[in-house]
Amino acid sequence: MNMTCREHYALNEENVQPDREQLHDETNNANCMLEHGEPLLEILTTLQIDSDGDCSSSSTKENGIWCSKNVLRKKRHWEKIVAAKKSKRKLEKEKKKAKQAENANAGTNPQQHSKRFLKAITKERVLGAKDTGPRLCVDLSMTMHMSRKEISRLAAQIRRLYGSNKKAAKPFWLYLTGFVEHSLLYDECVRMNDGFINYLINKTENCFLDVFPLEKIIYLTPDADNALKDIDPQKVYVLGGLVDESIQKKLTYHKARENGLQTARLPIPEYMVKNVNLKNFHSEILAINQVFDVLATYLETQSWPDALKAGVPPGKGFLLRDPVK
Ligand SMILES: C[S@@+](CC[C@H](N)C(=O)[O-])C[C@H]1O[C@@H](n2cnc3c(N)ncnc32)[C@H](O)[C@@H]1O
Repeated sequence: MNMTCREHYALNEENVQPDREQLHDETNNANCMLEHGEPLLEILTTLQIDSDGDCSSSSTKENGIWCSKNVLRKKRHWEKIVAAKKSKRKLEKEKKKAKQAENANAGTNPQQHSKRFLKAITKERVLGAKDTGPRLCVDLSMTMHMSRKEISRLAAQIRRLYGSNKKAAKPFWLYLTGFVEHSLLYDECVRMNDGFINYLINKTENCFLDVFPLEKIIYLTPDADNALKDIDPQKVYVLGGLVDESIQKKLTYHKARENGLQTARLPIPEYMVKNVNLKNFHSEILAINQVFDVLATYLETQSWPDALKAGVPPGKGFLLRDPVK
């Protein structure tokens, strides 16, 4: 049946008179469907359903429910529209997937390429530190001095420290010693740190005293008398794996001295002054990831002011003597 929209509309005008506004909408939709690829004739046929009968009075049963033909006609019409849209979306999705697979095979997807490339570069840089970089060890043998909450915070600090090392221009090679598998700290590390098992890091249950020659060890402790002057790639810098909110003073200092180890503190008083605006709170005790940020920045810049600025948070109550421009 060849019929223009206008002819079709005229043919049905009498029967569909009460629904003029609705037919107008549907005719517009019919034109719209043309854009989506559904044959116009099909739409017109749908609209024509009531042309032989009295649509306003007759009714029919569908799925056990009585509906007017008019309602059914509308329902079928919209079902067709929805189905057409669905199949169009599905087709577009399939096309997109095929294109992505094509790009991945050819290695031309710039986003994927750079992500993979950056990951490979980072891995190479971190692994490079295993042979040439200075070594940094976190001594995790003191969990008995910490509460459950402090252990969780330590796991979070290990994650930050590891993240900073991955980003560092000159990374350290990292060790976690005294690290007992399936201890509370271990399980917290696995729970809180994505991909912890695959960290590029040496993990051992052994004590650092059994892992490194004693003369190579410098235990970093806020209670040391000597300030750290430089970072020597031949040495191993040990940090106390401690989060002590109820500060256990000199814990690592005594441990280091008892084992005849060299100790050092960060040169905070040498390069920083107390911020008089802050009330009474001046602490040189940093979290392990903050100490690490100081060391990593120093390694890169060879500047203590830059390094301390990067790692000592303003809340500790210190300012640089000569602010870094
Ligand atoms: C939160 S502190 C623990 C302080 C604890 N009272 C102790 O006896 O070491 C965690 C670790 O970070 C390192 N650290 C923190 N502040 C430091 C500083 N100013 N100088 C050197 N090391 C520091 C130490 O290795 C320390 O054991």
